[in-house]
Amino acid sequence: MPEKKINFLNYIKEHLSEKISKKVIENEFGINADGLAQLLKSLKNYGFQVVESDTHIWMESYPEIFSLTDIVLHTKVIGKKILPFFDVLSTNDIALMLALQGETEGTVVISERQRKGRGKGDSIWFSPSDAGLWLSVIFRPKFQMTGVEKFTLLSALVIVETVKELFNIDAWIKWPNDVMINDKKFCGILSEGKISSGTIEFIVSGIGINVNIDKNEFPLDLQESSTSLNLELNQKVNRNDLFSAIMLNLDRKYELLKSNPETIYKAWKQYSNIFGRLIKIQTPEGELEGTAIDFDENGFLIIRLNSGIETKIISGTITKVD
Ligand code: BTN
Repeated sequence: MPEKKINFLNYIKEHLSEKISKKVIENEFGINADGLAQLLKSLKNYGFQVVESDTHIWMESYPEIFSLTDIVLHTKVIGKKILPFFDVLSTNDIALMLALQGETEGTVVISERQRKGRGKGDSIWFSPSDAGLWLSVIFRPKFQMTGVEKFTLLSALVIVETVKELFNIDAWIKWPNDVMINDKKFCGILSEGKISSGTIEFIVSGIGINVNIDKNEFPLDLQESSTSLNLELNQKVNRNDLFSAIMLNLDRKYELLKSNPETIYKAWKQYSNIFGRLIKIQTPEGELEGTAIDFDENGFLIIRLNSGIETKIISGTITKVD
């Protein structure tokens, strides 16, 4: 968000619920009535509910997600720049667009809600207000790799370790992009990017976490298969604390992925409860059945088919674990 808008937002935040004279604002920011009208219009486009009379403007409440810009993160790369939105179609779409325009590594796009949050395949990711963390992180790794699943698993690992650290919850990774508590999904990850002939320009890893969603607030078709942190803990979870911890852990784990990737691969394996077990997996080539053996360094899954042959799965959905 441009600096003028951020300063303006901070000003409004300091005067929350107060009716502020338009003339006073114009003087404060050195703008005329047209300039103020433009500023207000763009804030409304960001989803802010600014009320206005002929002479005054005011805002009743400040969206919680914007307080994230007040957090001081002690990270090296991740979250050095946070771009908060209130109401978007998809944070991945925004992050991809920004990455194409050259946005720096580590920038995070986060929104209070998404109208068309995207999940794997053509699925829609349920992303209501006040209820979750819907965010996308831009990476520009220098190492060679194939596909983007490495970053999906990196984010999944960070989520598993963060919920253990904060809430002592044992979550696990369901390859490639689900993070589960018991048998229910509370987090999904969608990594997308631009890779040409082994060279990565950027990766956007989109993370959706169901934080404070009650069972009956989920759409009917998700009620049995999904969960949220507040459902598991029986109490509301502070999204700002969770966000900060995720940023810090993602920053550390990303460093480790660069300096000592083996430890990351080991942890992926440790937190996936499929290894050594018989699984069924739906792939673009059809359904396969076999024993899950390992991940390779790209985050692809290796299974031993019932025929004894080992095969690498690049994308798929695990439908059954025995
Ligand atoms: C899945 O499990 O199918 C992946 C879900 C990914 C959802 C997140 S929410 C933030 C980011 N923006 C999106 O549109 N999708 C990802």
